[in-house]
Amino acid sequence: MSFDFSGKKVLVTGAGKGIGRGVAIALSESGCKVYALSRTKSTLDSLTEEYPSITPIVADLCDWEDTKKKIEKLEVLDGLVNNAGISAHDYAAVDCPRENICKVLDNNLLSAINCSQVIAKKMIEAKVKGSIVNVSSIGGLASFPNGLPYNISKAAMDMASKVFALELGPHGIRVNSVNPSLVMTPMIRELIQNGLPLDKTAVARSSMGRLLEMNEIVDPILYLLSDHSAMVTGQMHVVDGGLLCNITTKI
Ligand SMILES: NC(=O)c1ccc[n+]([C@@H]2O[C@H](COP(=O)([O-])OP(=O)(O)OC[C@H]3O[C@@H](n4cnc5c(N)ncnc54)[C@H](OP(=O)(O)O)[C@@H]3O)[C@@H](O)[C@H]2O)c1
Repeated sequence: MSFDFSGKKVLVTGAGKGIGRGVAIALSESGCKVYALSRTKSTLDSLTEEYPSITPIVADLCDWEDTKKKIEKLEVLDGLVNNAGISAHDYAAVDCPRENICKVLDNNLLSAINCSQVIAKKMIEAKVKGSIVNVSSIGGLASFPNGLPYNISKAAMDMASKVFALELGPHGIRVNSVNPSLVMTPMIRELIQNGLPLDKTAVARSSMGRLLEMNEIVDPILYLLSDHSAMVTGQMHVVDGGLLCNITTKI
């Protein structure tokens, strides 16, 4: 799908790998000035080698104050994609240690709240009618085995989208979640290598009978950032190939 983001400025978190990298590249190719934030410098180096107009920001989003300092310095933006996140499927709910729950909430939820606060305040001051997209998951809407920290982080992110949407709407700023099922990224490859057959389950449940291609989640994110979705706010935009509407598996 083609979008025109000429003259627009967007920050994408977790842009070193996976979905975030896909979004950063698609935005850059659509004429956008992209700020790509991620934790590991080498992944951002390889991104900016390919796309020199992208501005890298190395930061660990779990360091709230350092991240705040780094993104407060940016010019006023038109968009923010809170994409960075980690998976967690290590413990049954009854055994899940506090530290594990806190680590996932820190990475997946608080990081997005921090970035939204900083970027939205600057949008309000400059009277920019921006758009914030939170990359949630179908895991915010349905549970996975051993998924307590991940599932609650994404469910809470969806509620954060609604609260921010409610409060920022009067300023013309929209906030939405996208809730993808499975896209093959380094995160998912690692989970499969560790013995979780997520791909087989997702294909068996999806009425479309396949995983998402990268562009099939990147395009909906660009749509939510763009004026094509000018009256869409506070929504959970599920992109799952019909997975959640199916309570059976193919046999
Ligand atoms: N892939 C899927 O099927 C799928 C499905 C549903 C939802 N999601 C969500 O989509 C988002 C992206 O997932 P993905 O599959 O693309 O993951 P990925 O391949 O692991 O990439 C995640 C990126 O986020 C960065 N990141 C993670 N925590 C960070 C932190 N504290 N500070 C800065 N950067 C951080 C990672 O940096 P490092 O390189 O340093 O690790 C990496 O570049 C996540 O929020 C995930 O929950 C993915």
